[in-house]
Amino acid sequence: MNLNPKYYEFDKYEIQIDLLETMQEIETYDAETRQKELLKCAISFPYFCHKYVKINHPKRGMIPFVLYKYQRRCVEDYETYRFNILPKFRQGGFTTTTAVWAAWRCLFRFYETIIFLSPSHQQSVVVEKMIQRIISELPSWMKSEIEQSNRQKTFPKTDSKLYLFTPECTIGTSVTYWTSVTYLIVDEAAFVPEMDKCWKTLYPTVSPTDGNCICISTINDVENWFSGMLDHAREKNNSFHVIESDYHKRPEFDTEEWAKQTRAILGEKAWQQEYSYKSPVMNSCESEKNSPQWDKTTATGMDQEQTPRTTPFIQELNREIEHHNA
Ligand SMILES: Nc1ncnc2c1ncn2[C@@H]1O[C@H](COP(=O)(O)OP(=O)(O)O)[C@@H](O)[C@H]1O
Ligand SMILES: [Mg+2]
Repeated sequence: MNLNPKYYEFDKYEIQIDLLETMQEIETYDAETRQKELLKCAISFPYFCHKYVKINHPKRGMIPFVLYKYQRRCVEDYETYRFNILPKFRQGGFTTTTAVWAAWRCLFRFYETIIFLSPSHQQSVVVEKMIQRIISELPSWMKSEIEQSNRQKTFPKTDSKLYLFTPECTIGTSVTYWTSVTYLIVDEAAFVPEMDKCWKTLYPTVSPTDGNCICISTINDVENWFSGMLDHAREKNNSFHVIESDYHKRPEFDTEEWAKQTRAILGEKAWQQEYSYKSPVMNSCESEKNSPQWDKTTATGMDQEQTPRTTPFIQELNREIEHHNA
């Protein structure tokens, strides 16, 4: 496995992982070790993925989910900003990262209500099956009592819930009566049929005090809700923080040869759309960024409504784990 520091980095918990440890050994940890493991997982999403989650790589089969650097940054932004919008490149692992992160929040944070909206039944089933498998492969002491139906995963230990929705779920259901969704996640938002209608139904369910939204999508060249929101976000006309993505950050895509081949197969228009899209707004931002008066604080997309949130929960856990290690 190529662990080039250009693409990977590890936190202080991940570097302690014993790669030779078997699942059976992990399953039989004593009570104190379990407690420490739960704390580490609660503090570090990358550690949880690295040690406890396997993903299905198209060429290498089942492998530990070692996050790429850009996937770490992406999750850091999810944790920092209340409203995130992510124009993605194809096959960047954004669905995987975001869905696993949603499940992790339900496992390790109290009172989460997360909606993960996919554009179609087929895409929702893929996410559902992945989450189901990942949960079923966790050690028994970590996953106890999680109830899994097709559309809903319930985590009694944390009183959290993960709902896997398609646009149809938002029509004629009681969704509008919910008032405390903590995360509304929309995957491939530019491809959700009638996304503006879905948004009007779902957005009012987001908790006004601690609710958050994440909208991810590859670019769809027809004008749509996502492209409108994205352009407004780039112009700082709404509260969304833009998470930019770049296919060079994924090692398999970072070669001239891959880019040349893929470009030739897809054709220029599809290539631009799937891997190399720049909106007119982004182009103008780029030229501004290169000029000397570019202000770094605006480059982060931070505004008064969107100052980074403090995480007392994490600070508390950090103190506990340091106390344990002492
Ligand atoms: N960190 C990673 N390391 C290796 N493979 C990954 C990683 N993240 C995602 N993948 C794999 O990349 C493929 C595309 O992931 P997916 O989440 O469907 O991408 P996207 O939604 O961005 O198009 C999947 O096979 C997934 O298992
Ligand atoms: Mg996807």
